[in-house]
Amino acid sequence: MLVSGSGSNLQALLDAAEDPAYGAEVVAVGADRPGIEGLARAERRGVPTFVARVGDFASRDAWDESLLEQVSRFEPDLVVSAGFMKLVGPRFLGRYEGRYINTHNALLPAFAGMHGPRDALAYGVKLAGATLHFVDSGVDTGAIIAQVAVPVLDDDTEDSLLERIKVAERRQLVDTVGRMAREGWTVNERKVRLGRG
Ligand code: GRF
Repeated sequence: MLVSGSGSNLQALLDAAEDPAYGAEVVAVGADRPGIEGLARAERRGVPTFVARVGDFASRDAWDESLLEQVSRFEPDLVVSAGFMKLVGPRFLGRYEGRYINTHNALLPAFAGMHGPRDALAYGVKLAGATLHFVDSGVDTGAIIAQVAVPVLDDDTEDSLLERIKVAERRQLVDTVGRMAREGWTVNERKVRLGRG
């Protein structure tokens, strides 16, 4: 799992994975910066962590290569990005495309990018939500695996809307990753179906 911040999505997955029937476990947590709560949450559970800071590498490609190496050591079946603030490069995607997923706090394709809830509020939409999608070389453009909607209330602030989205987002992430692990998935063009066949 890749994180850059508070790691509440990570925590939800760590909690779900306590139950062996869940079908998935978090084998490692990587970050692009040290000292974040996401890494501390992993350490408290005894899950291995690593940090790959872009600034520590001569080029973005070298960073990408190192991230790929560090992730690959753990041989994950699925790489989950939750609040990971970096776009990976072609090497990483070459290895993990189709097995690299991201949770985004807006109903894609609307409001891609860094400020989904803020942009949704500014636009005046009445439904906001979260999207779980495969990562491709674009920004929040990969095939959609699952979406969940929440209402936008008249007196919402960015924070109150974000909190409502995140409650639904965590549930969706836990439910969907569990199903992907237990049932598999197929992708035909951009159509993702959970389950085999
Ligand atoms: C999530 O809302 C995700 O959609 C966004 O960043 C947030 C990460 O939250 N990209 P957390 O670090 O899992 O608490």
